[in-house]
Amino acid sequence: MKAVILAGGTGSRLFPTTYVINKHLLPIYNKPMIYYPLSLVMLTKIREVVFVVNPEDIPLYKKLFGEGENLGMKIMYAVQEKPLGLAHALLTAEKFINDGEVKHSVCLVLGDNIFFGHGIAEILYQAKDDVEKNGGAYVFGYFVNDPERYGVVEFDSGGRVISIEEKPKNPKSNFAVVGLYFYDNTVFEKAKKIKPSWRGELEITSVNEEYLKERKLKVKLLGRGFAWFDAGTHDSFLEAGEFVATIEKKTGLMIGCIEEIAYRNGWISKQKLEEIAKKLSKTDYGEYLIKILKE
Ligand code: DAU
Repeated sequence: MKAVILAGGTGSRLFPTTYVINKHLLPIYNKPMIYYPLSLVMLTKIREVVFVVNPEDIPLYKKLFGEGENLGMKIMYAVQEKPLGLAHALLTAEKFINDGEVKHSVCLVLGDNIFFGHGIAEILYQAKDDVEKNGGAYVFGYFVNDPERYGVVEFDSGGRVISIEEKPKNPKSNFAVVGLYFYDNTVFEKAKKIKPSWRGELEITSVNEEYLKERKLKVKLLGRGFAWFDAGTHDSFLEAGEFVATIEKKTGLMIGCIEEIAYRNGWISKQKLEEIAKKLSKTDYGEYLIKILKE
């Protein structure tokens, strides 16, 4: 399985902050927003990632991540010329995911989604394993107060999914579909089939509907012990930053520290981590890495 992280879009809900800077490069407390979705992919033990970015942002992302050498990963970049929707963005990554005739399954993560919760790595790993073994799509639902802002999933009394709708005016449940999706290798075929929505975008919800039609959509609910933020508005951006700061200060453990995960996954050496920590030595982030080196 390979991963695709979406970091395109206009960020218009964060204007004027995002007039000239890509939303996903803004800091959520002490690190760029994009570190958080990348850390999830790394916890899932996926080593090959495609970032989908706007044309003008390519140099910035390359400066930040290169080809993944500091993380022991393979990082690639797909350019989305226009923000025509999440499924459109996913399609731009197709050529990096499939190796000729060999088609891979995909973990898709939205660049502005932040997750935290006990056992998240196991949950992700299980979803990946399920899709690799059984095919289909595996997505997650989360109870929210304002479901009309999201993709919304409806269940029957037996807990089976009966519908999934994008930003419905009258949501049929309070379960939002979060921005983390596992798909088998038919996802690109499905994404090519769908039509633009009323807002003119190729929606990821339409791709999920295709899986639902084939009865191949699994939805796992994330319980109260999880925190999920879609940091795409001023308020949710601030909330996410405050949340990360609170947890990190209380526990002394970092959320979304990509170098720590790379090291613990055995993807980078102690020497490499030392090198990175030295560059960051004037910060709490660097001190944290040094603490890990001493374990
Ligand atoms: O956060 C979860 C929600 O994300 C889901 O519940 C919805 O079903 C899904 O459609 C999506 O809704 P949003 O309205 O929050 O999507 P947004 O336009 O904010 O885009 C999500 C991310 O994808 C964001 O980080 C920017 C990136 N993006 C977006 C578009 C439209 C791209 O890379 N390319 C695009 O064309």
